[in-house]
Amino acid sequence: MTLYKKNFLKMLDLSKEEVEEYLRVAALLKDKKRKGEVHDFLRGKNIALIFEKTSTRTRCAFEVAAADLGMHAVYLDPKSSQIGKKESIEDTAKVLGRMFDAIEYRGYGQEIVEALAKYSGVPTFNGLTNESHPTQILADLLTVREHFGKVEGLTLAYYGDARYNMGNSLMVGAAKMGMNFTACCPAKYFPDAALIEKCREIAKETGSVLRFEEDPAKGSVGADVIYTDVWVSMGEPPEVWEKRIADLSPYKVTGAVMARANKGAIFMHCLPAFHDLGTEIGREMKERFGLEDMEVTDEVFLGEQSVVFDEAENRLHTIKAVIACSLVKDGV
Ligand code: CP
Repeated sequence: MTLYKKNFLKMLDLSKEEVEEYLRVAALLKDKKRKGEVHDFLRGKNIALIFEKTSTRTRCAFEVAAADLGMHAVYLDPKSSQIGKKESIEDTAKVLGRMFDAIEYRGYGQEIVEALAKYSGVPTFNGLTNESHPTQILADLLTVREHFGKVEGLTLAYYGDARYNMGNSLMVGAAKMGMNFTACCPAKYFPDAALIEKCREIAKETGSVLRFEEDPAKGSVGADVIYTDVWVSMGEPPEVWEKRIADLSPYKVTGAVMARANKGAIFMHCLPAFHDLGTEIGREMKERFGLEDMEVTDEVFLGEQSVVFDEAENRLHTIKAVIACSLVKDGV
């Protein structure tokens, strides 16, 4: 199998074997990094990093991965470039495709990253869109596999708003890999019905079981991985907080949720997380609603079952694998 020149745009585009190959390369590159072995296979190559939304992990992972691979990375902040305002995505893609060997995009609609891939002619990677966050899912799968030695047959329960990029991508990733997936939230926060149908078709092949559960006391029963994310996604207006808090507070990941999960279950979160009052928004929510935390308690976030910082580190190794698989001609 070759992943050479392959775009990385959404989990739906990937076969189970392709995901396995990215994970193999990520584990190999992680080992090289740990041992201090130089792996600058891509000296002389250039990557453009477009960020229309803020980021800590994804931006740092792409920049450090590019540096470790010997590449030069150019960070493009839309405020200081022509993207979208004075120049169309199509024209931008055609220009960047003449200068760069690959492009990463974080921003709004999935159609933007798809257009960058179509018109640039160079491998293009999705660093998060409204609909999809595939590099996060690779890191999550690597983390689960490192912890349990496998992903197939395990059960992941996602608590919170499952309609957007994380809920969607985890459901697709789980279905593809033969992992069981439970979305635990009010029914109006379940993933899109058409996407659920697609995943049910995929699950028929892989044996994955998809479940949609409204009772927070039942969602984690039988789960090996409890996963949550912030209740308000990037780009949503601040007015949505009040309603979201009212709807999703019963779905906070607490010690009780973890206690109902399987023995040895782990807690995951793509981060950033509102688990204490260490953030501006966290303090604002304390002032407005009296909350000390939101989607997860501090006790769970910092507890022994939490693997959130392993997961964050794995963003680097998996993103590096995506770049390397796409740009190293003879494979890694
Ligand atoms: N999980 C994630 O995408 O983190 P950043 O928003 O910091 O990139």
